[in-house]
Amino acid sequence: MNSQNIYVLNGPNLNLLGTRQPEVYGSETLQDVETLCRRVAAENDFAIQFRQSNHEGEVVEMIHEARTEAVGIVINPAAYTHTSIAIRDALASCDMPIYEVHISNVHRREAFRHHSYVSGLATGVIAGLGIEGYAAAVRAISLSRAKLIR
Ligand code: DQA
Repeated sequence: MNSQNIYVLNGPNLNLLGTRQPEVYGSETLQDVETLCRRVAAENDFAIQFRQSNHEGEVVEMIHEARTEAVGIVINPAAYTHTSIAIRDALASCDMPIYEVHISNVHRREAFRHHSYVSGLATGVIAGLGIEGYAAAVRAISLSRAKLIR
């Protein structure tokens, strides 16, 4: 039987992880994030579809794909968190657990990062755990599919 898919979606500038403001985002790369997510998912018999885009419409299209192909979504919308009603509306069309992840603690940063268009419809929000936040979100989706949490 094929494993069920958890989609892990990443917004703009996250392709630069590891070299971009390492004092804020750490020295691990997006490849490290992908490896971590795949390991945690495999431990729980799930598969990962891992994506990144610098373009808002592409992120919307990734969410549309996840709508029919995923059992859950982990999304770090990056700067689009604070600006994108289109990404929020796309997520609102997905009937599955959705976890919003931020590597940094956005609430300790500039005021414009304190508002998220996504948080109001997310199952859970994780901020400030570094890349471990992605692992926690993948684990949470695995547990919710096993009906251990709701
Ligand atoms: C981020 C926080 C956002 O405010 C920022 O625009 C990002 C990354 C984070 O992972 O901490 O690009 O989502």
